[in-house]
Amino acid sequence: MSDVPARFLRACRREPTDCTPVWLMRQAGRFLPEYRALRARHGFLELCKTPPLAAEVTLLPIRRFAVDAAILFADILLILEPMGVGLEFAKGDGPVIHRPVRTRADVERLARVPASVALPFVLEAIHLVRAELGDRVPLIGFAGAPFTLASYLIEGRGSRHYVHTKTLMYREPQAWHALMERLVEATVDYVRAQVAAGVEAVQLFDSWVGCLGPDDYRTYVLPHMRAALGAIVQTGVPVIHFGTGTGALLELMRAAGGDVIGLDWRVDLAEAWGRLGADVGVQGNLDPVALFAPPDEIHRQVARILERAGGRRGHIFNLGHGVLPETPVAHVAALIDAVHELSAR
Ligand code: CP3
Repeated sequence: MSDVPARFLRACRREPTDCTPVWLMRQAGRFLPEYRALRARHGFLELCKTPPLAAEVTLLPIRRFAVDAAILFADILLILEPMGVGLEFAKGDGPVIHRPVRTRADVERLARVPASVALPFVLEAIHLVRAELGDRVPLIGFAGAPFTLASYLIEGRGSRHYVHTKTLMYREPQAWHALMERLVEATVDYVRAQVAAGVEAVQLFDSWVGCLGPDDYRTYVLPHMRAALGAIVQTGVPVIHFGTGTGALLELMRAAGGDVIGLDWRVDLAEAWGRLGADVGVQGNLDPVALFAPPDEIHRQVARILERAGGRRGHIFNLGHGVLPETPVAHVAALIDAVHELSAR
């Protein structure tokens, strides 16, 4: 078992491993009954802002499953609250920004507060998790990527068509770029603070960037992602660059940077890796809905993805997006075990 802590970090660096490491996006959350029990007593932001509780939620999936990494319990939108835009996780509605950013003046009004001052509870939770995990299981920190953060800031909530976001981009490109620069600055500061507090890898979530075509990505996102990832790579921890619906953007995401590129299930893993090149790792890419299928079908799908990865160094098994709230817990256990068994070398 001595290889367990090393497995995930070794795969991030494309070093050989005894089997393929696996963790799940959103593993520290709503699909676990223990989480729902905690949520019955505490608000979501309260959980995030109370380090012993955030640490406890981070550890829940580690206690239940043989996952190869822990991901910190927090949220990509926490960084927006100290900017003064009024963040709320409204019941049933998902996140809401009460004062969305729609103009250059709105961008200028965003407060600049260092992460150590604005989000000390996140850093304290990292200390608590590391004290508990030691070198047994590595801890992944994370942040939202600037485009995905901007989309929430501008829309004020989740969106289908990103009309306000793209309108600002097209109509006021200077305001757009100023906003992206502010978000890069805040994100880099936040990730540096997480690394200093003890996270051993970082994932940048550009969950919604797949709504852009390649030309817009190149013009409005790529320079900012390059700046953010370039600075984050300097911290020395491996960086996973994740997005969904990015089949048309993979080469550009690769050009933006990251040690590992996250893939969703809409792309064939072997084909995507071929396009990205052998000098980068890949993470993915089981459809989260496959976890609702019977375990023998989960087995088949795991085997198919492992076959596509071909035992090459640098594959981290994950879902193509977060685990869904209604997912059967036993199926998650079956998935984790199947990955380890079927990939044992
Ligand atoms: O991965 C983990 O388990 C760690 C914790 C984590 C959360 N959010 C906890 C959470 C992580 C990594 C995130 C990232 C996140 N948050 C993303 C990027 C990943 C993705 O899914 O695309 C985004 C877009 C958000 C924004 C966000 N936070 C939304 C849209 C929502 C509401 C809908 C939902 O997914 O639950 C949240 C709330 C949230 N973040 C919950 C959790 C456990 C549920 C809150 C609750 O208990 O009601």
